[in-house]
Amino acid sequence: MNSLSPPSGVAQPQSSTSSATRGLHVITWGCQMNVYDSERMSDVLRPLGYRAVGTPDDADMIILNTCHIRDRAAEKVFSELGRLRKVKEARAERGEGTVLAVAGCVAQAEGGEILARAPYVDIVLGPQTYHRLPEMVARAARAAGAVIETDFPVEQKFDFLPADREAPVGGAAFLTIQEGCDKFCSFCVVPYTRGAESSRPAQAVIAEARRLVAAGVREITLLGQNVNAYHGDGPDARTWGLTRLARVLADEVGIERIRYTTSHPRDMEDDLIAAHRDLPQLMPFLHLPVQSGSDRVLAAMNRGHTADEYRALVGRLRDARPDLALSSDFIVGHPGETDADFADTMRLINDIGFAQAYSFKYSSRPGTPAAGAAMHVAEDVKDARLQELQAVLRVQQDAFNDATVGVTAPVLFTGHGRKPGQVSGKSPWLQAVNVDGPDSLIGRIANVDIRHRYTNSLGGVLTEETDRA
Ligand code: SAH
Ligand code: SF4
Ligand code: F3S
Repeated sequence: MNSLSPPSGVAQPQSSTSSATRGLHVITWGCQMNVYDSERMSDVLRPLGYRAVGTPDDADMIILNTCHIRDRAAEKVFSELGRLRKVKEARAERGEGTVLAVAGCVAQAEGGEILARAPYVDIVLGPQTYHRLPEMVARAARAAGAVIETDFPVEQKFDFLPADREAPVGGAAFLTIQEGCDKFCSFCVVPYTRGAESSRPAQAVIAEARRLVAAGVREITLLGQNVNAYHGDGPDARTWGLTRLARVLADEVGIERIRYTTSHPRDMEDDLIAAHRDLPQLMPFLHLPVQSGSDRVLAAMNRGHTADEYRALVGRLRDARPDLALSSDFIVGHPGETDADFADTMRLINDIGFAQAYSFKYSSRPGTPAAGAAMHVAEDVKDARLQELQAVLRVQQDAFNDATVGVTAPVLFTGHGRKPGQVSGKSPWLQAVNVDGPDSLIGRIANVDIRHRYTNSLGGVLTEETDRA
């Protein structure tokens, strides 16, 4: 681990033969796609000598990887940039240069405004242009002025990202297989920030997965904004769906645990449901956002299904895999949502029983259809609905976790626990599990007797069988 960066004048890119290192600090907000993208940006910068440092004060380059989904997203970016400006100025006083880059979905949506309001930013780059980062750094370091790259280039960024990823620690890794979205839900910016839906060729995904497995990865989470709409070119000149891809990853690449997120109910096809029955590597946890339980609101959201269709879909999934844990996203207070609509959402929650969920108050994203809609819901009504909904979801989550106390489950240990002498991992149902155990367990799967349920985690003990292993 490189935690020191040598003193430097201007942050000049180094040739790959140079042993000089530069500090890189990446701040990541938003979804797992952004987490993945941050790792890839670090990968493309590694041949230039950039190594991660723990604080922006030591960084020759700072990347703020932003998310546009939440309320006042741009304002949060500007306030963080204000803080980073001070870091950059303090470094300049010490004679150290800093390249400041803004990436991610706010960069994509509001690149021009960022450069106008924060002229000390050197690079603004959208999610489709990360492979061009070394060239942008070179341009910025030549003091050619700020660089903005927010178009959707024809070439696939994945073809240009380096194959050698930093060795993942803890046996679990993300792998992006699909990007963008054509669904145009009324409230959502993703189709505008991430562009049209596109899938990586199956062969490229398989090659990346093989490298991950060779590096010790046991569990891969396949990522996409609509991951179950995956339709990549297969090596056999046919289009492969997610099911075909997952089967090859399990049977031929040898991945022991496969997850995928985020799925859209409309793309949950029969073959994928069947795979939950007969592909043991598919973990019994599914994030399947429903957003609302009211047919009127679902229609206004342009989700393309009814509440009963979602209930039926969950029924078929549970027939296929009875222990499947379900997770969802909910939005309360979408324009036009009445008390009766909200009651329908509560009814759906009670009917399904979720193991986990994320819930949000609707917030307007400029340029989306819902932003211009009539009948926006008052803030205090949204607050009250969110509280009521979260209280029920909390009870459901606790009940789900309580039900696993007393169960013996295989846990993939991914890191240290909070207390010394503890290791922490993930159950098949994506619960955090802590046990007393040696560091040598990290990156391995071992059976745990689950004994306790805490607020957001479980505690257990390694089974004797594991101790002897
Ligand atoms: N592709 C995923 C969701 C991506 S965005 C899907 O279709 O489910 C993640 C979540 O953020 C969404 O599921 C939604 O619940 C929430 N979200 C998106 N835009 C929002 C907005 N304008 N206001 C409140 N919540 C929003
Ligand atoms: Fe956004 Fe809807 Fe696409 Fe999900 S499916 S990314 S919520 S537009
Ligand atoms: Fe946010 Fe962009 Fe992800 S808006 S949720 S970072 S796709």
